[in-house]
Amino acid sequence: MSQISIPFNRSSLVGRELKYIIQAISIGQIAGDQSFTKRCQTLLEKFLDAPTVMLTTSCTHALELAAFLLDIQPGDEVIVPSFTFVSTANAFLSRGARPVFIDVRPDTLNLDETKLEALITPKTRAVIPVHYAGVGCAMEALLAIARRHGLVIIEDNAHGLFGKYKGRPLGTFGALATQSFHETKNLTCGEGGALVINDPQYTQRAEILREKGTNRSRFFRGQVDKYSWVDVGSSYVMSDVLAAFLCGQLEAWEHIQTRRRRIWNVYHERLAGWIAAKGARGPVIPPECEQAYHMYYLLLPALEVRTALINHLKARGILSVFHYLPLHLSAMGRKLGGKPGDCPVAEDVSDRLLRLPFYNSLTDADQERVIQAVLEF
Ligand SMILES: Cc1ncc(COP(=O)(O)O)c(C=O)c1O
Repeated sequence: MSQISIPFNRSSLVGRELKYIIQAISIGQIAGDQSFTKRCQTLLEKFLDAPTVMLTTSCTHALELAAFLLDIQPGDEVIVPSFTFVSTANAFLSRGARPVFIDVRPDTLNLDETKLEALITPKTRAVIPVHYAGVGCAMEALLAIARRHGLVIIEDNAHGLFGKYKGRPLGTFGALATQSFHETKNLTCGEGGALVINDPQYTQRAEILREKGTNRSRFFRGQVDKYSWVDVGSSYVMSDVLAAFLCGQLEAWEHIQTRRRRIWNVYHERLAGWIAAKGARGPVIPPECEQAYHMYYLLLPALEVRTALINHLKARGILSVFHYLPLHLSAMGRKLGGKPGDCPVAEDVSDRLLRLPFYNSLTDADQERVIQAVLEF
């Protein structure tokens, strides 16, 4: 087998990441909630035009924090797309809720809002839209349904930082939203995330739950004279060493997004003819969405074609990947009662979707190699 020379993802420095890490260490600020965390939070609040953003150790932990804040209890139901990463469901399952899997739309692969009302029961507490590939879900329809049934919306915006729906940033529609800075995301610090708090009723408690159930943040602001245990909680604070890295990336956001937009557009334009000839399709971006340029995927006509294309690219030193196994058909999903046919669109696209190499430092020449290799197939 040939060696992989173009990986699927590769992290890179884009700005002052190393300078900031050295600065954090030299001023002795390596625990969390110090100056770099505050800088990142302020930048994110500005980008999103959101009242409060709290950095967390991951998007998974931001989702867990959201489940805590909603006081999710055993017996509650939470509606999540089947076509997503496990954390979208696990955060609520681990509080005792039953994840109810909803199918996705065939165009954007976002949860299908037309199937939502049929899944709502008196036990439903929340809906978790995932803006797949950074393309916005139909938020107007989702908000109207949620309002009608008294449900909370928590956006899993792991893919969608800088995406917009009808001109409004993704991550600002739900009462809460979560971001990921995992190394596969547009902006990263290796492992990291954030909780976006759009409904201020959650802010004070979020601060406590994120700090092990203590009022430590109030203590540091001089609002109480000692800090103590006041609630349940866990340890969701990001180290300032990672926040320093993230700060370097956040400050370079325009450069990153410009590069990613170009990579995406080049794939889309150069592969359009091949896609049509093969009976495949690329991503669909509805006119009301400004996408976040998180990934470029192909939907191939069949599983066998995808397997052959992966092998063809691998033989040329190029790594392409697929995801997600529909959650309702995973080992855990089946334990929860999932069975084939429950979410037919998710089941179908899961077999046919292929992600091409896509990272900030992907050079024009390497992208051209990927394109030529696909065109030869
Ligand atoms: C849709 C979605 N939600 C949540 C996560 C979890 O993110 P993290 O790795 O930051 O916990 C991911 C990770 O890739 C994801 O794709």
